Amino acid sequence: MRSKIITLTTTLTIAIFMITNPSKSTENQKITMPTEELVIEGKKPARFPHSTHLAIGLDCGICHHDEEHQPLSSLAIKVMVDSSTLHCVSCHNLKHPDKKLQKAKDIFHALCKNCHKAGYEGKNGPTKCTGCHIKKSK
Ligand code: HEC
Ligand code: HEC
Ligand code: HEC
Ligand code: HEC
Repeated sequence: MRSKIITLTTTLTIAIFMITNPSKSTENQKITMPTEELVIEGKKPARFPHSTHLAIGLDCGICHHDEEHQPLSSLAIKVMVDSSTLHCVSCHNLKHPDKKLQKAKDIFHALCKNCHKAGYEGKNGPTKCTGCHIKKSK
């Protein structure tokens, strides 16, 4: 009985430590570009492959910017503490001062669809809904 309590206490202590120190194991990890295709979640999830866009020569700052709308370089991203600040909707939400830049549809279509339509260095991206949107992932 006593040893069971000790085991239980130890397990709990470790569990609590892991929950309160989630960054411990990733402390020295630098933030890098995801190599796998991302799914931008929302009411109409869409896929986004970084690799295709890097291959055509786009800089990180074409899409990623800071709170002053200054482009973010790959170095600036690498030394970030928290990659969640890269998430577009962390700024583009109902608190954003410009009404036209509050909705996911508006900002993504403005950035993604406009370039796909206009083209970049002679290449065009998909403009049909299903070129980006996928079936609900959940
Ligand atoms: C170039 C890529 C791209 C194309 C093409 C595209 N979309 Fe989107 N769209 C996105 C992304 C990225 C989002 C953000 C994901 C989300 O919020 O669900 C989005 C969001 C949306 C939303 C907002 C969902 C919400 O939160 O209310 C709607 C509606 C939508 N798209 C409809 C369409 C329709 C209809 C078409 C075709 C006429 C289309 N989209 C074509 C990329 C695209
Ligand atoms: C063509 C646009 C575009 C370019 C260019 C681009 N990204 Fe992204 N990146 C995105 C989008 C869109 C997301 C998803 C944001 C979201 O979920 O709101 C993202 C997400 C990320 C994330 C967060 C992944 C996660 O899930 O936490 C990192 C890190 C990142 N990008 C790094 C980079 C780096 C480094 C470069 C340059 C080498 C780069 N990106 C170039 C559009 C781009
Ligand atoms: C740290 C906060 C922040 C993040 C994260 C952020 N934005 Fe912005 N964004 C801004 C600000 C500030 C502006 C400028 C608004 C203005 O000038 O009125 C802006 C402007 C824009 C514009 C309009 C400018 C133009 O050139 O037409 C688009 C489109 C846009 N952002 C898309 C995105 C996308 C897509 C992402 C994710 C890849 C993103 N933003 C991430 C803060 C942010
Ligand atoms: C500055 C221009 C530009 C921006 C911004 C951009 N794209 Fe693209 N995208 C392209 C081009 C060009 C291609 C076609 C590349 C090729 O054919 O090699 C492409 C291809 C794609 C493809 C098809 C790739 C494949 O491998 O099947 C998807 C999906 C896509 N883009 C989604 C997005 C989304 C979502 C965003 C916004 C978060 C975005 N793109 C922003 C230029 C852009």
